[in-house]
Amino acid sequence: MNESKKPDYLVLVNEDNRLPENFEDTIEIITVENAVGNTYQIEKKTYEAFMRLREELLENDGIQAELISVYRTIPDQEATFNRYVEKFGMDYARTYAALPGHSEHHTGLAIDVGVMIDGKLIRTIEGMLELDHLFKIMQSKLPKYGFILRYPKGKEAVTKIGYECWHFRYIDSPALAKEITDQGICFEEYWEKA
Ligand code: DAL
Ligand code: ZN
Repeated sequence: MNESKKPDYLVLVNEDNRLPENFEDTIEIITVENAVGNTYQIEKKTYEAFMRLREELLENDGIQAELISVYRTIPDQEATFNRYVEKFGMDYARTYAALPGHSEHHTGLAIDVGVMIDGKLIRTIEGMLELDHLFKIMQSKLPKYGFILRYPKGKEAVTKIGYECWHFRYIDSPALAKEITDQGICFEEYWEKA
């Protein structure tokens, strides 16, 4: 990575805001592995923050959080979107998958986290929603590590994405993450006020 380049950790990517041109050139992407041997690419500081969150969850709460999806290229997102359409239909795909070019997974700063239960990694949308009580514990610790819950319940009309208890966004500032969380606003609303 060119040391003079710094990613914009507050970049807003959503239905109305496409991934900025050349954003990927500004991030340091590393390759990592989860506990079940899946490899992922992820922005370096995002990973370091996730690993600290993971450690706290393991030690204090007995919850084993594992990455299940992180950086996705535009073709990766296209494949994800099309898979959802084929399996579950267009409404479902539009609820849980951003359009290619409009996913914050393209930034390397968004993580999807599953939970290990009895040696099995729970990573389906339905399975994770059933474990919402565990995700609520994770969510309560996000700001401390510089993450926000990106698609909160009740903000679906603003984010234009369904409640995703598993999708966390790194913003590189515990103070700002706490402010956004405490105000009960989503990232779009933060941007409207900024
Ligand atoms: N699941 C989120 C919205 C994405 O596809 O980027
Ligand atoms: Zn996600």
